[in-house]
Amino acid sequence: MRYIPVLCLKEGMKLGKNIYSTEGVVLLAEDVILTEEYIASLIKIGVNGVYIDDNISSDIVVQNIISDELRIEAIKSIKSIYNNSRNIGRTINMVENIAKSIMFEILRNKNIMINMIDIKTFDDYMYTHCLNVGVLAAVVGVGLNLDSKKIEKLTAAGLLHDIGKVFIAKDVLNKTEKLTQEEEKLVESHAELGYRYIKQYYTIPVTSYVGVLQHHERFDGKGYPDGKKGEEISQFGRIICLCDAYDKLVTEAPTRKACIPSEAIEYIMANNGQMFDPKLVKVFLRRVAPYPIGSILRLSNGEKVIVIENNEECSIRPKVRNVETQEVYDLTYDWNLRNVTIVAVEDM
Ligand SMILES: [Fe+2]
Repeated sequence: MRYIPVLCLKEGMKLGKNIYSTEGVVLLAEDVILTEEYIASLIKIGVNGVYIDDNISSDIVVQNIISDELRIEAIKSIKSIYNNSRNIGRTINMVENIAKSIMFEILRNKNIMINMIDIKTFDDYMYTHCLNVGVLAAVVGVGLNLDSKKIEKLTAAGLLHDIGKVFIAKDVLNKTEKLTQEEEKLVESHAELGYRYIKQYYTIPVTSYVGVLQHHERFDGKGYPDGKKGEEISQFGRIICLCDAYDKLVTEAPTRKACIPSEAIEYIMANNGQMFDPKLVKVFLRRVAPYPIGSILRLSNGEKVIVIENNEECSIRPKVRNVETQEVYDLTYDWNLRNVTIVAVEDM
């Protein structure tokens, strides 16, 4: 199977994985043949892309870093946590439980690199984003060999990082035109509002809520709210900042187009040491695939290939297969291919 942006879908393509609503209802089932009506409804509900199965990808299995069941449960819980910010008794346990489950699944799937992080729709953007940041943060935590208690706290901080946004007017948050200076300040206040809220009501440890406070601080000191620099920013704050930025880049929003993973990775690399902590970027690049399995690439020798395996030692040179001849090349280890480069990611 392979991932295809929704605008490149064609009638007759076969769906490779279920599409779920935020409530966990299957909207379209695996193996369904897409019709024009189905494609139109996927566009309408704001799905960015889907997995399809076709001749060139039928033997390719894309493993999820967390199971569909956990993803659905977690999204429901996050929705309820973010919508019940004034009735928090129940939600504290929820955060801890999801954080624990995510950590266990990620530890179990330790060797899987992150492919496409999620199939997203606009309506649940905030919740899937918070889940993805929690998942990515846990992946980085595992990559840093943090102990399990710490990974759990880090994941909880990732899940809650934007909770301060529930205290900000929706029309400002969703505004598609340029924000006024005042509105910008208001949006920025979500980091501090979230921190104060969690500190007051949750019994989670200080490292977690400080991570929420500092998730918009930048490594070079140009972030907010306090303009802290380098290791003055807590480790959780630095990790969440990186994961937040990556997930935003690969997600389409009403105001911006989604980047493909390789472009998002380039942005992360370009901001290494400015926005992001270089030590964390190094770990991130080993765990998140710039060319997810199933991506179609054009090589500099003109060949069109599909990614069949990623290699964390050198994720920018995956193992690929020619879509016509079926010949397999390992771009990292095949000596004959040392001068061949990836020149484009194709939609086809
Ligand atoms: Fe934020």
